[in-house]
This record gives sequence, structure tokens and C-alpha cells, in this order.
Amino acid sequence: MPIAYTRAVSPTLADCELTHLEREPLDVARAAREHAAYETVLARLGATVLHLPPEPDLPDAVFVEDTAIVLDEIAVITRPGAPSRRPETASTAAALAAHRPLAHIRTPGTLDGGDVLVAGRRIYVGLSKRTNPAAIEQLAALLAPLDYQVIPVAFAGCLHLKSGVTRVAEGLLLLNPAWVDPRKFPGHRAVAVDPAEPHAANALAIGGSVVHPAHHPRTRARLEAEGLRVEPVEMTELAKAEAGVTCCSLLLH
Ligand code: GLY
Repeated sequence: MPIAYTRAVSPTLADCELTHLEREPLDVARAAREHAAYETVLARLGATVLHLPPEPDLPDAVFVEDTAIVLDEIAVITRPGAPSRRPETASTAAALAAHRPLAHIRTPGTLDGGDVLVAGRRIYVGLSKRTNPAAIEQLAALLAPLDYQVIPVAFAGCLHLKSGVTRVAEGLLLLNPAWVDPRKFPGHRAVAVDPAEPHAANALAIGGSVVHPAHHPRTRARLEAEGLRVEPVEMTELAKAEAGVTCCSLLLH
């Protein structure tokens, strides 16, 4: 049974960081309802949902995935690329210290967890506006003794690597080929998002199902055609904050 750490939607969410999206009016109360429903789905799929302390003054604090990389052996606390997000990591570190030895990305490294795709002993890390080569070098040095290979991945067109590619099953990726090159991931087959749904590549595999935003039905049909069980979740307001389903939890297996 995994633990899923989440954090409440901040009342300041409408002031979140945006990189590739235009700012639109955002209904924070609705975002909080979406988040609560997401937590309910995680619990139904077998996760024990634990809450990090609220950070009402940090607009992006709900997107806890960006604050740490949790592996079986260690948790690496990130140094987020957006300075506004760096204060989010202290409470994540305090919580994860109860579960894993901690390591930290240090200046001048910057790294967002949304750029990190774990595939067994291979850890793909997107080179983005948030994640720089210095952090990738640090991560590689921290994880090599634990027998992980860290592989930098260039991509374009979206905020994080996992905005454009996620792992939906053993050996199977969901990917937007306009943003991420499937050839970067040897040993994997890729399902492409429907071209009408470029933001549909972010999915969360958990408990034998795939959690996926309900507003991407055409891509959901593609996942179902692969035999995957999809759990649609409402995410329209959180998506306006440039978020996906992976961003809203930190899973400990
Ligand atoms: N709003 C999500 C992020 O930019 O980090």
C-alpha cells in the first residue's frame, strides 16, 4: 500500500507560477473540490493519504511532487527552479525524514520533481526552465552508489518532462510526440496522446489503474484500448495552474 502525501490547495493558487499557459480566471474553491476528489480516488486505489502542512501563502504548494524525488532507498529534496517555490521544500523534508534518509539538491542546482521520470533503475530527468544540468549532475552523483542511472532528456513545448510523458504501465509510456521524443526511452512502447489533447500525457499509475484528467476523453480511449483501467478525475481548475495529476501527490511505495 503506497503512502500518498498531498497538500491542501492554497487560497493564493490564482497567483501560481505559469510558464507555457496564459493566466485565466481560476476558481480556487472548485480547485479545492477537484483536489479533494483526487485524494478520494487515491484512497480508493489503495493509497494511505497523508497531508503535508498547508502553506496558504505559497500559491503552488499543492503541487508537492516538485519538492522531492522519493525512491525506495532515499528521498532527494529538490531545489525548485522557481524561487517562489523554494520555501515549499522544508515541510516536505520534515515529513519524509520519518520514511527515508534524505539528500538535498544544492545551489546552483535547480530541479523540479515534475521533471523526473523513474523507470526502474533508470531515472530520466528533463532539462527544462526549472531543472538545470548542475542539479542533474548532483542527482547522478547521489544516486550512482544506489545503482541508479540518471539520464538527462531534452524536450520542448511544456513545463515539465512529465507534462509531456508519463509511465502508465511497465514498459508503456503515454507521451505527446510533439514535445518529447519517444526514442529517448529505450525498452518502452509509447501511446501518443490524441492530437486534439496536447496536455493529456500526464497520468498517474497507481493500484493497477491510471488516474487521468477527465477533460481528455480521446486520450482516455487510447489508454483503454491498451487494456488499462482509467480513473478519470476532474482537473479543469488545477490544469489552469499548469498542473497535472502526478504533481498533486508524492508517492512512497
Ligand atoms: N504552477 C505550477 C508551476 O509552475 O510550478
